[in-house]
Amino acid sequence: MFEERPAQTSLQDMAQPTTLDALRENMAGCRRCTLAEGRNNIVFGDGHLRARLMFIGEGPGRDEDLQGRPFVGAAGQLLDKIIAAGGWTREEVYIANIVKCRPPGNRVPNRDEAEACLPWLRRQIQLIAPQLIVLLGATALQFTIDPKARITAYRGRWIERGRIKIMPTFHPAALLRDPSKKRPVWEDIQLVRDEYRRLEEGR
Ligand code: URA
Repeated sequence: MFEERPAQTSLQDMAQPTTLDALRENMAGCRRCTLAEGRNNIVFGDGHLRARLMFIGEGPGRDEDLQGRPFVGAAGQLLDKIIAAGGWTREEVYIANIVKCRPPGNRVPNRDEAEACLPWLRRQIQLIAPQLIVLLGATALQFTIDPKARITAYRGRWIERGRIKIMPTFHPAALLRDPSKKRPVWEDIQLVRDEYRRLEEGR
């Protein structure tokens, strides 16, 4: 997923957009997988066009599908707190998902759906060029790093892919179900904050 050279073949029908707006336009009407059939809106992503830090979740839920924006429901409110805990605002980071259309009943996206959608995310990452990425939960981890990876084993440790440092942590929805995960997420976000500051200061 985070290969240095773009996967050209999977972008053949997308004419390699060179801005996020062009990418968003190309995505309108996307029918690369069957999730298109049930969606109200494509949830493209939100935030700073050249964000230093990007968060990647799983896929839109009901609220996101209705509003066309990522993380605006209950998990989103918690993500807002996580972002604030790192000292950032939503406007200075970028938030996206593995799949950009809502899976029915909020089920986990399957491999076909994720494979169909990942070229969009890959291009988003190339255009935004974040230095740091936080992977929110097992789905983001498994579809970008390793299909067998367990979030409990990977969270809290940096993964380096080219020039990008990647921090897996628990998904905010997991914190809503199990508040004991709040502390580890807090610790992971402190690591990201420290690295962000180091990059900002050019150290
Ligand atoms: N959960 C996600 O993974 N993404 C969203 O956008 C909302 C909830």
